[in-house]
Amino acid sequence: MPAPTIMQDDVGALPPALSAIEAASRALGFAMACEARTGALLRSLAASKPGGRLLELGTGTGASTAWLLEGMDATARLTTVDSDAAVSAAAQQVLGGDPRLTCVVGDGGGFLVERAAAGDRFDLVFADAWPGKYSHLDEALALLAPGGLYVIDDMLPQPNWPDGHPPRVAALLDELDRRGELVLTRMAWASGLVVATRRA
Ligand SMILES: C[S@@+](CC[C@H](N)C(=O)[O-])C[C@H]1O[C@@H](n2cnc3c(N)ncnc32)[C@H](O)[C@@H]1O
Repeated sequence: MPAPTIMQDDVGALPPALSAIEAASRALGFAMACEARTGALLRSLAASKPGGRLLELGTGTGASTAWLLEGMDATARLTTVDSDAAVSAAAQQVLGGDPRLTCVVGDGGGFLVERAAAGDRFDLVFADAWPGKYSHLDEALALLAPGGLYVIDDMLPQPNWPDGHPPRVAALLDELDRRGELVLTRMAWASGLVVATRRA
């Protein structure tokens, strides 16, 4: 039976900021931006958290940040962290005027330790850097409010994966599966996504 065309991927309208972000990415040689399907899912998930507090680890040049902001309502707030001042500056150049956004330049691991120790809570954590996925996972998950969403991508093999990465990915998926406090969905779609909800 032919595949029904009604279910082709369609990400809808792109965030208007994306073209400037793509130009900045090209200028910086930054090639790690999330793909549009991932962005569209982030936008939908962000929209499920009216008034929510959102956290992104790995701002890059701001592609996923722009998608998250598109989904958020006027009262939601997003903090995004990146250790690379140059890419963060590019993101801030395009998105920095949005009062809902706070950009932090610094190590994501240190940020997670500090916020977890302070008992901070977020309604959505998009972990798109090493810390929060392959290190400091306990801290990232501790930051999830009840019903909060933990989202990761690049779980399917990627051309930029470092040597020896596949076992780390498998171990991360196993660890997430083991966590009784999470309700997990693995999606072999886009770059390979996981959405995990913290049980109330
Ligand atoms: C996959 S990219 C993020 C892409 C971004 N979310 C997007 O869609 O454009 C990973 C980012 O993590 C940042 N990074 C690497 N190590 C980090 C660390 N220890 N703390 C915070 N950010 C880090 C890199 O500078 C890079 O921008």
